[in-house]
Amino acid sequence: MSQESAAKQNPAVDEIYHPSPDIVAQANVPDPERLREEAARDIQAYWAKRAEELEWYAPWEKVLDDSNKPFYQWFTGGKTNIVLNALDRHVRTWRRNKLALIWESEKGDLRTLSYHALNREVCKFANVLKSMGVVKGDRVTIYMPRIPETVIAMLATAKIGAIHSVVYGGFSVEALHGRIEDSESKVIITADGGNMNGKKVELKKIVDEALQRSGAPEHVVVVRHLGLDVMMEQGRDYWYHELMSLPLTRNPMRCETEVMDAEDPLFILYTSGTTGKPKAILHTHGGYSVGVHATLKDVFDLKEEDRWWCTADPGWITGHSYIVYAPLLAGATSFMYEGAPTYPYPDRWWSMIEKYGITIFYSTPTAIRGLMRFGTSWPNRHDLSSLRLLGSVGEPINPEAWRWFHKNIGKEKCPIMDTWWQTETGAFMIAPMPAMPLKPGSGTKPLPGITAEVVNEEGKPVKDGDEGFLVLKNPWPAMMRTIFKDPDRYVQTYWSKFKDFYFVGDSARRDKDGYFWIIGRVDDVIKVSGYRLGTAELESAFITHHAVAEAAVIGLPHEVKGVAIHAYLILKAGHEPGEELAEDIRKHIAHEMGPIAKPEKIEFVKTLPKTRSGKIMRRVLKARAQGMSEGDISTLEE
Ligand code: PRX
Repeated sequence: MSQESAAKQNPAVDEIYHPSPDIVAQANVPDPERLREEAARDIQAYWAKRAEELEWYAPWEKVLDDSNKPFYQWFTGGKTNIVLNALDRHVRTWRRNKLALIWESEKGDLRTLSYHALNREVCKFANVLKSMGVVKGDRVTIYMPRIPETVIAMLATAKIGAIHSVVYGGFSVEALHGRIEDSESKVIITADGGNMNGKKVELKKIVDEALQRSGAPEHVVVVRHLGLDVMMEQGRDYWYHELMSLPLTRNPMRCETEVMDAEDPLFILYTSGTTGKPKAILHTHGGYSVGVHATLKDVFDLKEEDRWWCTADPGWITGHSYIVYAPLLAGATSFMYEGAPTYPYPDRWWSMIEKYGITIFYSTPTAIRGLMRFGTSWPNRHDLSSLRLLGSVGEPINPEAWRWFHKNIGKEKCPIMDTWWQTETGAFMIAPMPAMPLKPGSGTKPLPGITAEVVNEEGKPVKDGDEGFLVLKNPWPAMMRTIFKDPDRYVQTYWSKFKDFYFVGDSARRDKDGYFWIIGRVDDVIKVSGYRLGTAELESAFITHHAVAEAAVIGLPHEVKGVAIHAYLILKAGHEPGEELAEDIRKHIAHEMGPIAKPEKIEFVKTLPKTRSGKIMRRVLKARAQGMSEGDISTLEE
């Protein structure tokens, strides 16, 4: 009997996929257990060793400073800049001629940038930012389509010591406005528009509308990508290509990389939490570089000759860490694609794997489930034999999607690295390495130097196999340092539920082999197609519609998206429920938040279940919608 059918008939029998001897023989980490044990013996010595794989302007004095918990500091006294390792050190070697980036637009245009060429563009744009008065510590908002200039803008900002805040190009007016305002950005970098699924997304128009609501930044830089006719406000808005050809900026030799403290901020990235506005997660130059570099090398076995493709968007942490920084730190060749996986046909991704000889392909469960629906004839018409490893991120991957991916894309020879991590963790935390046995749906074990546990309400470990809260027990270099402008919220959100443990916000269980299985969020974060949205931000967007008095939003299971948004709305007096109004509200949400926030279902209701203190009980709505018992509703008022 095959492993698959044995597991189906008897769920107690694990479905295990062992790596082939050649995968083990050539892996960067041939013996993962030994590395894990070595790291556990002295975690700080382990991370110091990993930090030595990178260049530093000056060495650190202390690996970990935990004198002000939970504001941990790593490699204190060390001097670096992520750009020193992502570009500067490569252009001094033969890698200057190696491709850093291969990019294809949705229409099929190709652009390539060697390390030399990428460095030149970054230096020129860094000079542009300097000429606009951007200095160390200033914030720069980047709101872009998936094009090479996004990467250039991020690196240029980092190079001069400024802090980038990338806002996902699929977000819209209100989401962008809130993030620009909170970050107090001096400059916004955007494009006239981007291609997505055959449509033109007019980004500059969205920026203009968002800026009508905000205290305006000093400058807006606009990349001409589509050739759209856009409004350019004199004295505020500038074309990227014009700035890049000014004599002042043309000479890249004039741009030195700013020497940064290991603990100086590199970027902020807004993400959703349980309550309130999205929070700006802050990461630093030193520890973040060490964390993303070590994890990509170990988990995806990255080699000089690989062609790496991470399908995420630079607007999310996966793009920051594993499209932009980690591959460049490793001197790797990355592929980036602008558009939708199904444009013009559902084999677009598979055709590009063949065309560019991709060797490692890192994607999401929701994309795999979506492409599965079109059947195997689409991947089967392409030669996917260049692939050697696959990856998954963002939400639990259901075994059915895992098996489809493994069989039809990996042709049963490519292990799947299911990586569990978060915006806050900066880098992979629980993930396999290619030389480990895999179980579909499990991220396997905490990586070397990481200690995780599943605990109960009291913070005590639960029995193997039981569900509980996932916690991380020791600090790690790529961890977030704080919430920008709100250190109290950092302590409250992550370090208060359990003293000394980092509270993840996910439930999980660990099996008898020490493998972790992530179950889902225990808070009000909704992961729609792997995108992280907060109920609070969504609900406030609903009530900006003129007809909506109150809103409650929950996530319910969905076959492709994993979770889909269901909205319960109380209308203002004088408005009648109906499909036309529901459609108008959907459009409003897409305009304010972005298309990913559009609700799957809108239900108009007269009341919402609330606690005596007026808090909406989403748990009750969820239970009702799924026909389950409502649990303890003693605090329910209505
Ligand atoms: O719930 C977990 C889920 O995504 C959350 C983090 O979301 P975000 O900060 O947007 O980062 C996503 C990309 C790193 C986690 O708390 N999650 C992420 N990866 C996995 C996952 N759930 C299960 N399996 C994964 N591999």
